[in-house]
Amino acid sequence: MKKTISIAAALLVAQLSFAQNDITTKAKALMAKMTLEEKIGQLNLIIPGGAATTGSVVSTDVEGKIKKGLVGGLFGIYSPEKVRKAQDLAVKESRLHIPMIFGLDVIHGHKTIYPIPLGISASWDLGMIQNVAAMAAKEATADGLNWAFSPMVDIARDARWGRISEGSGEDPYLGGEIAKAVVRGYQGKSLALNNTMMACVKHFALYGGAEAGREYNTVDMSKIKMYEYYLPPYKAAIDAGAGSMMSSFNEIDGVPATANQWLLTDLLRKQWGFKGFVVSDYTSVNEMTAHGIGDLQTVSARALKAGLDMDMVGEGMLTTLQKSLNEGKVSLADIDQACLRILEAKYKLGLFDDPYRYIDESRPTKDILTAENRTTARNMAAHSMVLLQNPHQVLPLKKSGTIALVGPLANNRRNMLGTWVVAGDWNKSVSVYEGIKNAVGNNANIVYAKGSNFTDDAEFAKRVNAIGAQVDVDSKSPAELIQEAVEVAKKSDVIVAVVGESSDMSGESSSRADISIPASQQALLKALATIGKPLVIVLINGRPLTLVWEKEHATAILEAWAPGTEAGNAVADVLFGDYNPSGKITATFPRSVGQIPIYYNHKNTGRPYDGTGSTKFKSDYLDESNDPLFPFGFGLSYTKFEYGAIQLNKKELKGDDKLTASIVLKNTGNYAGEEVVQLYISDPVASITRAVKDLKGFQKVSLKAGESKTISFEITPEQLSFFNSDLKKIWEPGEFIIQIGTNSAEVKSASVIWKKK
Ligand code: BGC
Repeated sequence: MKKTISIAAALLVAQLSFAQNDITTKAKALMAKMTLEEKIGQLNLIIPGGAATTGSVVSTDVEGKIKKGLVGGLFGIYSPEKVRKAQDLAVKESRLHIPMIFGLDVIHGHKTIYPIPLGISASWDLGMIQNVAAMAAKEATADGLNWAFSPMVDIARDARWGRISEGSGEDPYLGGEIAKAVVRGYQGKSLALNNTMMACVKHFALYGGAEAGREYNTVDMSKIKMYEYYLPPYKAAIDAGAGSMMSSFNEIDGVPATANQWLLTDLLRKQWGFKGFVVSDYTSVNEMTAHGIGDLQTVSARALKAGLDMDMVGEGMLTTLQKSLNEGKVSLADIDQACLRILEAKYKLGLFDDPYRYIDESRPTKDILTAENRTTARNMAAHSMVLLQNPHQVLPLKKSGTIALVGPLANNRRNMLGTWVVAGDWNKSVSVYEGIKNAVGNNANIVYAKGSNFTDDAEFAKRVNAIGAQVDVDSKSPAELIQEAVEVAKKSDVIVAVVGESSDMSGESSSRADISIPASQQALLKALATIGKPLVIVLINGRPLTLVWEKEHATAILEAWAPGTEAGNAVADVLFGDYNPSGKITATFPRSVGQIPIYYNHKNTGRPYDGTGSTKFKSDYLDESNDPLFPFGFGLSYTKFEYGAIQLNKKELKGDDKLTASIVLKNTGNYAGEEVVQLYISDPVASITRAVKDLKGFQKVSLKAGESKTISFEITPEQLSFFNSDLKKIWEPGEFIIQIGTNSAEVKSASVIWKKK
């Protein structure tokens, strides 16, 4: 059996490398006909005016450049009609008829929008995640696109950083598994199918390590931290076959990623064997001038030499490489290399067989925003929600009586989609009010009041609204708004307050120094808490928030993230128990900003504070606990899960032995439910200091009320291994603590001895 598999695998590898050789031969034959100018043209990615931009530069004379063969790809436009028009220019009017690729930020869906990626990750449901990526690809390709600027796999341990919303949180193992699922979802069985698209893994690398969580800020970290915690998700995405990568805005070891030879060549190509192409981020080539490493010609040449293949928007490569070649600053081989990689990608996408492969005017109505896609989005959203608190089981709500629905996000379609939605239309989303109405029909009475502005701080609102108004200021005064909500709430049996962040309060260029719910909304919550009715907080937001007061005063808290197109229906599914919540947070929720960066897989230090006795001369704060508000992996259910003791098949192991660790999980509550069972391992003594624990496995299991299941994990030395001081991945013999539990802080433990021989 094993032999058959390995023969089949060898055949597949042989076929793939034959296909790669074939593609390379064809691309080289084409390059033999290309002028130097045309080769440099392939390295040029531009954005026509009118598309969504994230920088000050917008491309000019797009049409003329395409006709002259000076554009490798376009991004920012979609729809078969628009893409056909542009592709016509390249295929019919340029000398060599080379097709262009068409990219877009398809981040969490194309037109049917799923929850923000941080929310999606909270589902821990890899099958579902792969499926939504595949559906996003189907929609995006129906709109003429073939390249998604996603997944974003940057590890983030700092909730001040707005782009924490675009990733999968703080853990490299979970992040890597999700990265693989998304790449597989986009790219499917073959890139050449007309419903699959090329993934672009970003932002390579370490972008999430921005100092102080401030957008685009400097990154400076040890190699061990990189290898152990920040790099694994990029590597996982590459191992899953991702066709392209995007370099990040930040520097690494003093050299911006976009011109970092160690990163783009030594690590990515030589160590990891990446065969696709690398595109810069939006004008990140040009921005190296501001970083302080030279003028446009210098930075463009450095980027190319370092291993960057395509220049997004800035046109530094287009305008300076010829000069650099003449001056001997780059070689023809450098230019050929980059051009070859881009042409190879176009062959893989099947564009040379049929440049119009992804352009079919009949597809949008069949494939976009279909009832099926909406159902998938609703399920994904319900599975992403995390029940943070519900001690008195006020949730699930009954579909009867009077429910007061209040808050600036309660009857608001505009902010349901979250950050990075280029093609999605917020008008097509379902507000929480609408979703609740759909769910209860005439069985319950829903009374509504807005209750507060998103913020009463005009300057904050102005900055949030920089790329389009999302946050408005009501004509009524803050006091009047609160009073209205209080009146409505007094008449109800239960208050549901929908509060948090507007879509652009998180995401790119949306760092916050204060990550609490804005003061205007807090004032509303405080007024509601005095009424003496159960207060359910539904949070719509894009990052972990500091919620100490809310945890103390709310009867229940549901973290709903920005749930996407089907927001309201999914919130109602969870509030009324039509879906029993199973999400678990993938980024630690701090108690206060002062604790940041805070993450579960921290080191012990030489003076750890264990929560008992005197704290003097211990690693702690005078004025704050070390504990988070909600730990990584935390999330409740309407039912209760009881974990039995860990059973190990062996207490002592050696070499390549395998350990089986099991627990009996029992659903002791009254509802069927799903639980994410998490496996952590600690290595208490090693040649370098290790984290207190690391996630090494998880399973999402479903149990009926009263049901028990044995959940087993197979553990191999691979899960004990780490990068040592020489950056070699090794494992060292000794004691290991195996932990299985419901979140990173609540686990059952058992110890094993693992020897080399
Ligand atoms: C972002 C990328 C994005 C690109 C193109 C940049 O500002 O950092 O994530 O893919 O713009 O829209």
